[in-house]
Amino acid sequence: MRKPLIAANWKMYKTPAESVAFLHEFLPLVCNIDDIDIAIYPTMSSLASVIGAVQGTNVSAGAQTMHWLNEGPYTGQTSPTMLASINCDHVLLGHSERRIYAHETDDMVNWKLRAALAQGLIPMVCVGETHDKRESGLTEAVLRWQISCALNSVKPEEAEPIVIAYEPVWAIGTGSVAKPDQVSEAHRIIRREVAARLGEQCSEMVRIIYGGSVKPDNIAGIMEQPEIDGALVGGASLNPQTFAAIIQNA
Ligand code: G3P
Repeated sequence: MRKPLIAANWKMYKTPAESVAFLHEFLPLVCNIDDIDIAIYPTMSSLASVIGAVQGTNVSAGAQTMHWLNEGPYTGQTSPTMLASINCDHVLLGHSERRIYAHETDDMVNWKLRAALAQGLIPMVCVGETHDKRESGLTEAVLRWQISCALNSVKPEEAEPIVIAYEPVWAIGTGSVAKPDQVSEAHRIIRREVAARLGEQCSEMVRIIYGGSVKPDNIAGIMEQPEIDGALVGGASLNPQTFAAIIQNA
């Protein structure tokens, strides 16, 4: 059985003080939940504060990106070893906003994924098609390509921690949540591709979660689908009551 995971991607919101204030309100609301993993990905400048504030709780913290090398002349970058050195457990990789605005390629996502696994971080790889690709009937091709590139040279025995977030680009921040059957179909495509790359047994362990306009009133329908192992929440995770409601309704 895969344990569900509900994660918050705070994107470029919340200072350290705002992050700690959020957690002060949020942690008591979810402290009794032990059948769902909960993770928060704050912006880099708030990461150490969030890691400190969630220590000893049922909530984990992660970075929104990282470099694949451990050190070097790369202005503005943070390395896998640097994340591990501040007790960061998780890292988000290949979010569509990174692919679009920071020109992250499929190869880079693969290098980062392998570096994260080597460092013992729990990587969450984001994949998803644009509206145009979906309209052109290319959803399956896009997902298979992104997954096969991301998993290139990953060994089955190291793959268990991998989480894949299916985030159709057209559903991010738009309010148009993908329909449960669209998400289920995409998740089946992704799991088949993981199986083709890493084997059936391994594909059954990898969690595949959905992201895109998740709210307290649509999470139950999403989680009813057996293929969906959780959610990655953007805008609705910025308010402690709303994010807690999503977790409770899941
Ligand atoms: O990574 C989460 C995300 O991109 C979805 O954002 O605001 O549509 O929940 P949102």
